[in-house]
Amino acid sequence: MKIIHFSDPHAGGPAEDWMAYVDKRWVGVFNFSFRRKYQHDQSYLKKAVDYILEQKPDLAVLSGDITSTGQPGEFKIQLAILEPLRNSQIPLMFIPGNHDCYVYNKKCVDAMKDAVKFLNQDKVAFDELPVKMTVGDCDFILVNESCPTSLLSSCGYLPKSSSDFIVKECSKKKERPIVLVGHYPIIEDHPWLRVRHRLWGEKEAMRLLKNGKIDLSLCGHVHRPYAKIDSRGRGEICAGSVTRNGCVSVINYDKGKDVFVWENVFLDTKR
Ligand SMILES: [Fe+2]
Ligand SMILES: [Fe+2]
Repeated sequence: MKIIHFSDPHAGGPAEDWMAYVDKRWVGVFNFSFRRKYQHDQSYLKKAVDYILEQKPDLAVLSGDITSTGQPGEFKIQLAILEPLRNSQIPLMFIPGNHDCYVYNKKCVDAMKDAVKFLNQDKVAFDELPVKMTVGDCDFILVNESCPTSLLSSCGYLPKSSSDFIVKECSKKKERPIVLVGHYPIIEDHPWLRVRHRLWGEKEAMRLLKNGKIDLSLCGHVHRPYAKIDSRGRGEICAGSVTRNGCVSVINYDKGKDVFVWENVFLDTKR
């Protein structure tokens, strides 16, 4: 089974209504205008879509932060680029990131929920998360870990109900490898060094990942790609930001050998 995993394209733009100068969006708009705009090359999202359509994997996973401030205009830009993939025969999974759930503004929340439904090919709605789905040779648990936070925080939070859902699903007789799809890394080498960016409520999921009940965690949020996996490919894979690094994660699961094999593919050179 072949999975192509990409993340964090971070479209951005100006404030879309006056409320954006009152809520947290002004921070994100400022951040995009003076920093993110120069770090992310948006052409890589289209290149990723073209690459996935050409490769025809068994599944494509997009692990959040498609916007910078969660405004409707940012979602609109990204959904137009992602639409050919969404409308293809390739199953697509999407969970939102903290930037997609930036503020409580109703227009922003509605746009995020529309994006979740659209990018999950109408199979999953935001309010239904967490969900478990079987695709190909693996079971996938999709969770939302993102919600609006204070001005200086980029933290995520795995709600107790989602953690309990994961525990319940992992306590059943395992028929296939279990892959957790979330926005935040569960494994943190130095959680207190990243206290403004970390995931809270992750303890049970971390325990299940470490004892092998969860086989693989797929995440984004951290913008450089990495794989913390063992010789059987078990552990955590972060796709990094597709528009910052110009690469996607390609994960092949060999059912016969029961092994996941990860490679980082650069979209310019297809290395
Ligand atoms: Fe991000
Ligand atoms: Fe993030």
